[in-house]
Amino acid sequence: MLIRNETAQDIPAIGRLITEAFLTLPQASGTEASIVEALRTAHALALSLVAEDAGEVVGHLAASAARIGTQDGWALIGPLAVLPSRHRQGIGSALMAEALRRLRATSVGVALVGDPAYYGRFGFRTFPGFGVAGCPPEVVQALPFDGAEPRGELVHHPAFGPHQPQ
Ligand SMILES: CC(C)(COP(=O)(O)OP(=O)(O)OC[C@H]1O[C@@H](n2cnc3c(N)ncnc32)[C@H](O)[C@@H]1OP(=O)(O)O)[C@@H](O)C(=O)NCCC(=O)NCCS
Repeated sequence: MLIRNETAQDIPAIGRLITEAFLTLPQASGTEASIVEALRTAHALALSLVAEDAGEVVGHLAASAARIGTQDGWALIGPLAVLPSRHRQGIGSALMAEALRRLRATSVGVALVGDPAYYGRFGFRTFPGFGVAGCPPEVVQALPFDGAEPRGELVHHPAFGPHQPQ
């Protein structure tokens, strides 16, 4: 399996993959693929990584710039999606490992909204006073690279619209 940047040829497959993967998540908004499209159109995809296996796109991770409180320099990971037929084969973990490796060089830390049972294994955790309006605090997590405490509201790109950036 290869983790690499998206190419223009991958774009239709990425959209299909995200749509299919999020159908398995009951709390999904159904807009995740269009959020990635909007981020791409706005040139706001700090990372758009695909996992390719035997010539097929089987996973995708998006990252974009974010602010926490008054602190710029954060990255937001999401959405992260793996083809349902390929879940639990380490693809999400491989995408996350490469994303964190790259973002470490460019960001003060990474934030995301998602299941702590999954993201805890990568070092993400909650912080007091850190959150997103309308979102349960336990799903808003961060991984600071510089030891700084994320404090305040997570402000994501407008492409996410009113939806939570998962
Ligand atoms: C969440 C998702 C990206 C995980 O991808 P994946 O390739 O299946 O994950 P991995 O195989 O790397 O899993 C790594 C570990 O996490 C566990 N895990 C996988 N999905 C999990 C979940 N939803 N909750 C808790 N643990 C999970 C795996 O069992 C594995 O544990 P192990 O190392 O002890 O065996 C994938 O299930 C998916 O696309 N889901 C639908 C979209 C979604 O929920 N995206 C995230 C939004 S918050």
